[in-house]
Amino acid sequence: MPISEQLRDRIEHFANLPTLPQVATRLMSIINNPLTSSSDVAFVVGQDLSLSAKVLRLANSAFYGIPRSITSINNAVVILGLKVINTMVLSLTVFDMFPDDKQTSALFDRKSFWLHSLSCGLIAKFLATRIRKVILFDPEEAFCAGLLHDIGKVVMEQYLHDDFHDALEHATINKIPIYQAENSTLGYSHTDIAEWLTTSWSLPSEIRLSLMYHHDPQRSVQSQDIISLCHLADWLCYKTGMVISGDYEAPELDENAMQLLKLLPEDIEAIKELLPVELEKTSIFYDVVRNK
Ligand SMILES: [Fe+2]
Ligand SMILES: [Fe+2]
Repeated sequence: MPISEQLRDRIEHFANLPTLPQVATRLMSIINNPLTSSSDVAFVVGQDLSLSAKVLRLANSAFYGIPRSITSINNAVVILGLKVINTMVLSLTVFDMFPDDKQTSALFDRKSFWLHSLSCGLIAKFLATRIRKVILFDPEEAFCAGLLHDIGKVVMEQYLHDDFHDALEHATINKIPIYQAENSTLGYSHTDIAEWLTTSWSLPSEIRLSLMYHHDPQRSVQSQDIISLCHLADWLCYKTGMVISGDYEAPELDENAMQLLKLLPEDIEAIKELLPVELEKTSIFYDVVRNK
């Protein structure tokens, strides 16, 4: 449900709406234009020197596994492609908006949160390539949806700390999933906060709807395929122990999502086999973006 006027006033009283840096918004607005060239993308990224340095570091990391060295942003755009650079910039800017030094809660570990988010992104991307024959997914869009799916939680931790803490305690004591505890104790959840947060982010609607409905894909009238993909990737993270901190219950599985995507038990097994590699990749990504 959309967040109430009262909650909106409360959040806005505490915090200015965290806005996505212009470089990410600008990139998202040009990326789908067929006339956009790699030098246009390199120009936008190149305006931000610290971002450019991180893009180069990530492009040369084992996360992408490119055998030769990438020496310029233009080079990175040509080798990795426009969409990958767009995803990279979006991820890097979102990580920067929520630095780990703001951590104040023992019940919510920021590093585990980001590793879970990255794992969810990678699983969503893997599933997207696996079920491509049934529904056409853009794997980079799937990665973004997975990476950002729980962004509302980090906003709650930073700006609505006491509320979030109450919900986390309630979830632990009653052994229920976090979003259920949020709804029953607060009357809203991190998905409502994500809806508010991303109002002006110009995200593609498929990604924004995934942030809003990943716990209940049936509630969306559009883009149920990518929302279901994100829902399953999140559920798989819990089922396979992909870096979830705390003793939280897995979200409930929506069986319709499995059917809609025509996923088979062997796909789940394939994910489990991939886990060690994927876990390593998430750590590499995290270390690069956090300058470790
Ligand atoms: Fe969630
Ligand atoms: Fe999640």
